[in-house]
Amino acid sequence: MSDRKWWHGATGYQIYPRSFADSNGDGIGDIPGIISRLDHLEDLGIGFVWLSPVYASPMADNGYDISDYEAIAPEFGTMADFEWLVSEARARGIGIVMDLVVNHTSDKHAWFKAAKRTPGSNMHDFYVWRAPGLDGGPPDDQQACFGGSAWHFVPALGKYYFGYFSAAQPDLNWQNPALRAEIYAMMNRWYDRGIAGFRMDVISLIGKDIDARQHEEGPYLHKFLQEMTRETAAGRDIVTVGESWSVSTDTALLYCGRNRGELDMVFQFAHVKEGWDEDRGKYHPKPFDLVAFKKVFNEWQAALSEDGWNSLFLTNHDLPRHVSRYGNDGEYRVRSARAWATVLHLMKGTPFVYQGEEIGMTNIEFSRIEDFRDIETLGHYMEQMEKGVPFEEFLAGANANGRDNARTPMQWDAGQRAGFTTGDPWIAINPNHDTVNAASDKEDSNGVFQHYQRLIALRKSEAVVVDGRYTPFLKDHPTVWAYTRSLNGQRLAVIANLSDESTSLETPEDLHIEGGAVSWSISPRTEIGDRIDLEPWEAIAVLDGEFARVS
Ligand code: NOJ
Repeated sequence: MSDRKWWHGATGYQIYPRSFADSNGDGIGDIPGIISRLDHLEDLGIGFVWLSPVYASPMADNGYDISDYEAIAPEFGTMADFEWLVSEARARGIGIVMDLVVNHTSDKHAWFKAAKRTPGSNMHDFYVWRAPGLDGGPPDDQQACFGGSAWHFVPALGKYYFGYFSAAQPDLNWQNPALRAEIYAMMNRWYDRGIAGFRMDVISLIGKDIDARQHEEGPYLHKFLQEMTRETAAGRDIVTVGESWSVSTDTALLYCGRNRGELDMVFQFAHVKEGWDEDRGKYHPKPFDLVAFKKVFNEWQAALSEDGWNSLFLTNHDLPRHVSRYGNDGEYRVRSARAWATVLHLMKGTPFVYQGEEIGMTNIEFSRIEDFRDIETLGHYMEQMEKGVPFEEFLAGANANGRDNARTPMQWDAGQRAGFTTGDPWIAINPNHDTVNAASDKEDSNGVFQHYQRLIALRKSEAVVVDGRYTPFLKDHPTVWAYTRSLNGQRLAVIANLSDESTSLETPEDLHIEGGAVSWSISPRTEIGDRIDLEPWEAIAVLDGEFARVS
């Protein structure tokens, strides 16, 4: 590919700073803690870190409520620590991608405080205000994502402001050019500090038309994204990834088409939402349906095959651990973690590893409301209790799909506090850290970590993994995922049994291959013939004979 950028062949790694590594024993992860673990990331081979927010914040939503874009939250460290992180990471060939949360600020941001204090001020118009409805209540019945009305009353002003997530997260008024100029200047200052890019939080909301109730992908979205790129990223060698819960294969290229001047990639969630009950939502997961799941990935691979670029992920800080959701977190924990990694990392796009997935971390099971920390889960709890839903029903949903699953501390070792902290952790540590931890997994050549290492290294050494055309096979097979990648006559074939049962099947001719085993730690097999027998969670990846190699 002629316009290849560094991030096309790199693998990202998401750090949720609160839960990664605590250097000072306050039970909360911090930037010096991250620095102390950079060697782990270098060993893994990743090219950049997506750092969830470390800005000053009252932490109503663990940093996705920013009170000062130009300061670091004291519990995470200082600006000097941050600069140290950037340079230590750079010395290991790792870029730092910051989280950009500009759909909203915290209600403790100086802009919002001024907006509330002085209705005639410029900053008042940085936010979205409306008069009460005819009955004196909220202007309308739009609901906040974390529960209750999206309109929040300020008695001293007699007006409501719009906070689509919660009252603690007032939405910024992107219609205001002065606000947009402030945001772009802030982004440029971060770029000038040497960051490698931005992951943009709920970016598809910034073009919203609130009165028309169009939140996602509103009429101004692409105008603003183009303006943002022109004013900030243009001419810089950085990467931008926008989060969008609404983007589809029909709209993806509007964001990341090569000539659009918007983003490099989007995080899309069609595969995640595929697993939710259509009417009752995320806390009511449907049984996993591999055929439907493959269809989503296959469609995205096809939609961005010639233009744009896919991001590839199975989990993040808002989702359950994928080994628990799509794999088997019991008997086949390690095998299922490796099989999913094989399938995901050999597709076309930039893969993202969420902290802990490289050692096969799993969901946690809570039994009391006091265990949960997440604003979304707690808001959902209040709503469910008000509706009279039994606690057990709430609990089952929260344990299956709640965001705290991904936020329990990184399990570094089998010690009492998992090597995460010497103090009281802000959220419970998964008791399985006595067996599931980085120290033991990294030693094991059949473990999860070394497998991720090999996959990440392959992306660096084999152009076919980066640029090869993706062709899916066995689309309707209920437990097997199979595809090839091809580039300039070279082929890579992948076949994986994503289930607890052995299977034996006939394979289509175009999937047949003879060559060197790529992932010999899972299977030393070097060919896919007419018929293949696959053990539970067995995944095979084979490169063409001509290029045969054992990694
Ligand atoms: C998406 C983030 O990933 C999530 O953690 C956050 O709660 C919302 N955006 C609001 O910022």
